[in-house]
Amino acid sequence: MQLDWGTLRRTEPVSRHFGYDRGRPVDRYYIERFLANNADCIKGRVFEIGDDTYTRQFGGDRVRRADTFHAHAGSPSATFVGDLATDQAILPDIFDCAIVTQTLQFIPDPVAALRTLHRILNPGGVLLLTAPAVTPVSAESDEWSRMWYWSFTAASIRHMTELVFGAEATAMEIHGNVLACTCILEGMAVEDISTAELDTFDPAYPMLFTVRAVKQPR
Ligand SMILES: C[S@@+](CC[C@H](N)C(=O)[O-])C[C@H]1O[C@@H](n2cnc3c(N)ncnc32)[C@H](O)[C@@H]1O
Repeated sequence: MQLDWGTLRRTEPVSRHFGYDRGRPVDRYYIERFLANNADCIKGRVFEIGDDTYTRQFGGDRVRRADTFHAHAGSPSATFVGDLATDQAILPDIFDCAIVTQTLQFIPDPVAALRTLHRILNPGGVLLLTAPAVTPVSAESDEWSRMWYWSFTAASIRHMTELVFGAEATAMEIHGNVLACTCILEGMAVEDISTAELDTFDPAYPMLFTVRAVKQPR
């Protein structure tokens, strides 16, 4: 095959900002489609990492109370501050839903973090989790690049979530293809490619994993 490299034969990516400077990053396409498809679970008392953007956007009037968790102090809106892997401060069985998007890669012991999420969910409560397979490690050398521990595979995400929530209670989906992977690495945005291209699934080139896991009654 004759290759036409076009503008891509460069060692500098198109954007170092995940595509935010060009439109919507391609990982957000899969993340937000997953949350929209599971919006019925976002209700009651909802836990979200970082801020309550997705709780409000997808939960709307179904949400009675929104709590947020941040890794360190200095986020005035955070209800809880600490390390999800070691947290004992949050009471067990209090959340109906936990939205944990693009966070597991920052936690050295992701299984321990999943155990905390399982502990704080009500029986019947739902974890909505997303995690990256292919990604730049950071837009710049900011605070996140120093604590970026993992990229995941389907096997590692399935293993960890099934270990904690049980295989019957866990549904994982894989998203992406080689073009989507190229876009996230290059910092190209949803606006740079077509919906049909984004929706094409190639299991050999996962870009992102989503998991819906339900805490089983004891
Ligand atoms: C890039 S943000 C992702 C969350 C955001 N809601 C999103 O989807 O864009 C990374 C988040 O990971 C959280 N984080 C990093 N290490 C953590 C830890 N050990 N325990 C809990 N949260 C952690 C930070 O508080 C931060 O909000």
